[in-house]
Amino acid sequence: MVMDNLVDKIKQLREEKNAVIMAHYYQTSDIQDIADYVGDSLALAQQAAKTNADIIVLCGVHFMGETAKILCPDKKVLIPDINAGCSLADSCPADEFAKFVEAHPDHTVISYVNTSAAVKAYTDVVVTSSNAKQIVESFPPEEKIIFGPDHNLGNYINSITGRNMLLWDGACHVHAKFSVEKILELKKIYPQAKILAHPECKGAVLKLADFVGSTAAILKYARNNESKEFIIATESGILHKMQQACPQKVFIPAPPEDSTCACNECNFMRLNTMEKLYQCLLNETPEIHVDKKIAEKAIKPIQRMLEISAKLGL
Ligand code: 13P
Ligand code: SF4
Repeated sequence: MVMDNLVDKIKQLREEKNAVIMAHYYQTSDIQDIADYVGDSLALAQQAAKTNADIIVLCGVHFMGETAKILCPDKKVLIPDINAGCSLADSCPADEFAKFVEAHPDHTVISYVNTSAAVKAYTDVVVTSSNAKQIVESFPPEEKIIFGPDHNLGNYINSITGRNMLLWDGACHVHAKFSVEKILELKKIYPQAKILAHPECKGAVLKLADFVGSTAAILKYARNNESKEFIIATESGILHKMQQACPQKVFIPAPPEDSTCACNECNFMRLNTMEKLYQCLLNETPEIHVDKKIAEKAIKPIQRMLEISAKLGL
């Protein structure tokens, strides 16, 4: 279908069905442009929790759809491609995580939102990269904490809070691939550029960064900082909003180790397309389902995160 036609048809279906389209910053620019809300994982959960729409179309990955479904069990939650998974969530199988938690019964369990609903069911409080530091710091310094699944994020939070959380050894295949050498080469070409990195990157990359933050925080930093050039070490979809917000600034995607591949694009996120978004609204499928018993447990740590975030004004 011709793109203009597709845009009109998606808009028409959205209105007819009282649907809301939510998109993560890692979606392609056409999907971001048609979405009602574009945000990071925290903002998408917050928007889902308060929407009046009958249908939520979550243009992101599966765990984001699950989070929306858990928060809105009576709404239909759709995702354009049901295979849009997450390597980080997959690095933490629920049965293995349950054994890890059982082996440390005196620990509070903090899980990154990039986890399955089943892992969230074993969790005391969920965090995103926007609020992980503040939520960890909301516990007393002597609190024993398990943090999973992202090892890089966990290490980073340990380093900035002085905590010694016990970490699960998971990683995101996109963020793990950013190369220190390649970023330093770029820095020679753009010596004035500020390096902005997502905390899922390796520690060696984070050490180079002028600013470390979630996708929303990186975007805000680029908006408010007076620098004209930025090297961005996260999934390159975020550059679309950055360029829209600051058309006069230059954003350079940090290259992965292997510059012959587009490894700074999340292949899962990029499974969603405008055509699939249209089909998904038209046919109201694929739909996200979460087992009722799991959802009843998983909603508690998600709500706890939303409550703490609201209290902290995040
Ligand atoms: P944000 O919390 O910044 O949205 O990050 C989500 C994510 O999947 C990063 O890879
Ligand atoms: Fe998961 Fe990494 Fe893709 Fe984010 S970029 S959705 S952490 S695989």
